[in-house]
Amino acid sequence: MSKYIVTGGAGFIGSHLTDRLISEGHEVRVIDNLMLGKKEYVNKKAEFKKVDIRDFNKLKPLFKGAEAVFHLAADPRLQVSIEDPISTHEINVTGTLNVLQAAKEAGVKKVIFSSTCALYGEQPLPIKEDFVPRPVSPYGLHKYIGEQYCRLFHNLFRLATVSLRYFNVFGPRKLATGSYPMVIPIFLRQKKEGEKLTVVGDGRATRDYVYVSDVVEANIAAWKSDVRDGAAINIGSGKQTSVNEIAELIGWPTVNLPPRPGEMRFIEADNSRARELLGWEPTIGLEEGINKL
Ligand SMILES: NC(=O)c1ccc[n+]([C@@H]2O[C@H](COP(=O)([O-])OP(=O)(O)OC[C@H]3O[C@@H](n4cnc5c(N)ncnc54)[C@H](O)[C@@H]3O)[C@@H](O)[C@H]2O)c1
Repeated sequence: MSKYIVTGGAGFIGSHLTDRLISEGHEVRVIDNLMLGKKEYVNKKAEFKKVDIRDFNKLKPLFKGAEAVFHLAADPRLQVSIEDPISTHEINVTGTLNVLQAAKEAGVKKVIFSSTCALYGEQPLPIKEDFVPRPVSPYGLHKYIGEQYCRLFHNLFRLATVSLRYFNVFGPRKLATGSYPMVIPIFLRQKKEGEKLTVVGDGRATRDYVYVSDVVEANIAAWKSDVRDGAAINIGSGKQTSVNEIAELIGWPTVNLPPRPGEMRFIEADNSRARELLGWEPTIGLEEGINKL
């Protein structure tokens, strides 16, 4: 039995991670303000604390006795970060700083930080971790700052940290209308409701899709690994798929909408660092994942 903290444990990925930790008999404390997550997603065996990560004084006592902190709480809505960079900065940057400070003061052994491929911006493919980040949205920049804080807390205070740069995560509980809608659940809902699939832009933009259970395994591997120095690690499938290809897989008529600002065009991860440092590899492909949904 160990005590783990999952911030954002009422959200999409955090709730799956909590389930996985509980299934191994661990004690888990979920911290979430339910801004985007749902109480019913939180495993009944987890201890739930409705606390905002912006509130350091409430956060701090909750970290006592924790071995590791999986920090997933964020406002990941890229378009909201463009409309309202100040409030999203407070959650994504100040909230992350609060988590690191509370972890340091409580003597936590490691913080595993959920970062994103959105920090890269336009890059040659496949995208490697040592490319210079060129975020095209405040959200991408927020996560990059979070990563830098993770490194700094290791260098200054010897707090072990690791940043996982997820690519496009999909799987159950990712709602089409949820915190940041994603093409697969939107298309599945549109097909179910007999609507045309709405393709943003020309549909040739690509994403790298990684199934949620693989992202959960990456978190566990990062906790168990020797990585301590805040290294950033890509968690992606290593394959790019266009929106048009997804529409084809789903097999339904489409309609094109104008492109959106702040979004990267082509995305594909180089995941060799995850294989090397974490012994991690993706196990569920796009077609298999869509069939599961
Ligand atoms: N889903 C993806 O494709 C993806 C890709 C890259 C990175 N990420 C990152 O992974 C993490 C989890 O993403 P997700 O898809 O599960 O998102 P999600 O929105 O489902 O989960 C985020 C959770 O954080 C909680 N939260 C938000 N603000 C909070 C605050 N101030 N205090 C406490 N809790 C707060 C929300 O209520 C929600 O439950 C996020 O950090 C996100 O940036 C996700």
